[in-house]
Amino acid sequence: MNTEIKHKKIIEIVQDKLTCSAHNLDHVFRVYNLCLLLAKYEKDVKLEILIPSALLHDIARVEESQDKTGEIDHAVLGSVIAEDILRNLEYEEDKIEKIKHCIITHRFRTGNEPNSIEAKILFDSDKLDVIGASGIARIFMLAGQFGQRLTVDETLNDYLKSNTVENGRLKDVSKHTPLIEYEVKLKKIPDKLYTQKAKEIGKERLNFMEKYFNRLKLEIDCMK
Ligand SMILES: [Fe+2]
Ligand SMILES: [Fe+2]
Repeated sequence: MNTEIKHKKIIEIVQDKLTCSAHNLDHVFRVYNLCLLLAKYEKDVKLEILIPSALLHDIARVEESQDKTGEIDHAVLGSVIAEDILRNLEYEEDKIEKIKHCIITHRFRTGNEPNSIEAKILFDSDKLDVIGASGIARIFMLAGQFGQRLTVDETLNDYLKSNTVENGRLKDVSKHTPLIEYEVKLKKIPDKLYTQKAKEIGKERLNFMEKYFNRLKLEIDCMK
């Protein structure tokens, strides 16, 4: 089986599994395109590791969203599901391990640091997609999906005390808002990126986002 057919088969599997609007195949392809862009600015990037990692990175996202116990981490479960898919597609064992490392380290909360250039590029690309204009679109898609409001009546500190549990996980996602997500999480993203080009893109995307949310706050307070 050649590489192109393998990638096609992976895309078919991912398309069937990812049914959430903010984590659908469009997100996967935006991340894939960002990966290819960032790869051009780095040395010795193995696309045979990076491409399947980008395509499979959110394969367990729906399982995590539907899990009421809060125990499923889609990066961890995704690496296990990906292992089976890759083995069925006759990937070599050493490549499977490298791809699994990229998937398991693509999110903040796993506590696992990306240690290969491919894992760092995937991490950066995935984070870039949650900021800028795409990021704004995605948080409002999620807000719609979970019936969120634009603002909360309590202070940010009171909100954080009442609606977050260990690891920053939300107790009740319907009580969250796009503005809080921006304030507590998205603003910090550019500082957490690994590659130089991603940091540059991240700063520019965040500038745009800041203007948008500042304006939103003014409109909510009837100041504009
Ligand atoms: Fe993810
Ligand atoms: Fe993702």
